[in-house]
Amino acid sequence: MQIKYAATQSTKPKDFITWDPKFKIGIPVIDGQHEHLVQLCNEFYQSLLKNNDTWEYRVLVKQTLEKCLNYAATHFKEEERLMIASNFSGYAQHKASHDAFTEKCEITAIRIDKLTTSEGVKFALFLRDWIQTHIAHEDRLYLPTLLEFLKKNQSKPDGQQS
Ligand SMILES: [Fe+2]
Repeated sequence: MQIKYAATQSTKPKDFITWDPKFKIGIPVIDGQHEHLVQLCNEFYQSLLKNNDTWEYRVLVKQTLEKCLNYAATHFKEEERLMIASNFSGYAQHKASHDAFTEKCEITAIRIDKLTTSEGVKFALFLRDWIQTHIAHEDRLYLPTLLEFLKKNQSKPDGQQS
């Protein structure tokens, strides 16, 4: 028997990571970057699912991964800039976590042409778990220091920093 789907059924693929407002930490610039990073991780995963043995497929996977990792690097720089500016005591540990993640990603990115689809999906799962855990736990550690710093500097004329 053939199953007929309702015409209204969405054909949009289900997100690999669903952005949940509970991921928000309360600093708009960081929250916006986290949401965009989640979206780019989803795009990488969706590109992997197009699985076929063509040159175009390999290029697409490589491009979506590079986009995701380049944006992660931009985001880390912004977090690290704010942690330094606010004298966050856990800066070194947090930066070490960013660096370890970056190193692992770079090793995989270099080999992306050689990865099988299942290895690619395994790496996407690593990205997903790392991003979710990092946002939910590690990024919350700098929150009180950064919020205080941003509050203080917002009330200063001409955006001068203390
Ligand atoms: Fe972070």
